[in-house]
Amino acid sequence: MKGIILSGGRGTRLYPATKAVSKQLIPLYDKPMVYYPLATLMQMGIREILLVTTPEDEERYRQLLGDGSQWGIGISYCRQPRPEGIAQALLLGRDFVKDRSVALILGDNFIHGDGLYQSLARVRDHTTGAINFAYRVSDPQRYGIVEFDAAGRPVRLVEKPAKPKSSWAVIGLYIYDQRASEFAAALQPSARGELEITDLNQRYLDLGELRIEKLGIGNAWLDTGTHDSWLEACHYVQTIFHRQGQMIGCPEEVAWRSNFISAAQLEKLAHEMRASTYGQYLKALLA
Ligand code: DAU
Repeated sequence: MKGIILSGGRGTRLYPATKAVSKQLIPLYDKPMVYYPLATLMQMGIREILLVTTPEDEERYRQLLGDGSQWGIGISYCRQPRPEGIAQALLLGRDFVKDRSVALILGDNFIHGDGLYQSLARVRDHTTGAINFAYRVSDPQRYGIVEFDAAGRPVRLVEKPAKPKSSWAVIGLYIYDQRASEFAAALQPSARGELEITDLNQRYLDLGELRIEKLGIGNAWLDTGTHDSWLEACHYVQTIFHRQGQMIGCPEEVAWRSNFISAAQLEKLAHEMRASTYGQYLKALLA
């Protein structure tokens, strides 16, 4: 399975904080926001990743993430000139994905939890259809939501409904088989001029090939779309770090625990950052 991180967009809901810098580059507590979805993909065992950015921001992402070899993975880059929809990432990444299945993750999505890693491990060998993850929220009108019938089967996906019939939001991590780019190419732009990811998911649902994995209350899916939700996510990461001594969204740690890199490589990365608590955390992993 290959991975795509969608890290474009204008981040206007966080202005002026994101006026001169890409939203997914601003820190979430101690590390850039994009580290979290990157670490999630790596936790799924994905080692070939395409990062979609705006043309203006590509260089800064390259500076931050390089070619990924420091973490034993491959990162390549692709530009999205205008934010014309999440599903467009699958068109831009068509040659990259080729005939493989793909995990598409939004660069500002933050997910964490034990149950989650079990769910992610289950989808790793996914070959047909699509998988969406759903999370119960108190403000479903802000998201794409999934409606279920009395038997608990998904029947409809609706993007930001004014009067939601369900409180299950579809989170920004989508798993697709090799038909995703072809299906995305057949989508028409929505009223807001975007190729909607919800329309692509609905296509799989219509074919009876969409699986919904509900994430239980033991998982956290945090949004970073507003100043308050961004700060809440920062506090969440800080709280887990202080209380459990466990970092969330650390690509170096995932790379080392997954045997993508050796202890010696981790030590070198830790040494480069020895002045920060981040570097000290990496060093302590080896103790
Ligand atoms: O966060 C989950 C939600 O993400 C889903 O429940 C919705 O179904 C889905 O449409 C999406 O809703 P948002 O309103 O949060 O999408 P937004 O336009 O804010 O874009 C999400 C991220 O993707 C954001 O960091 C910017 C990036 N993006 C978005 C678009 C439309 C791009 O890089 N390029 C784009 O063209």
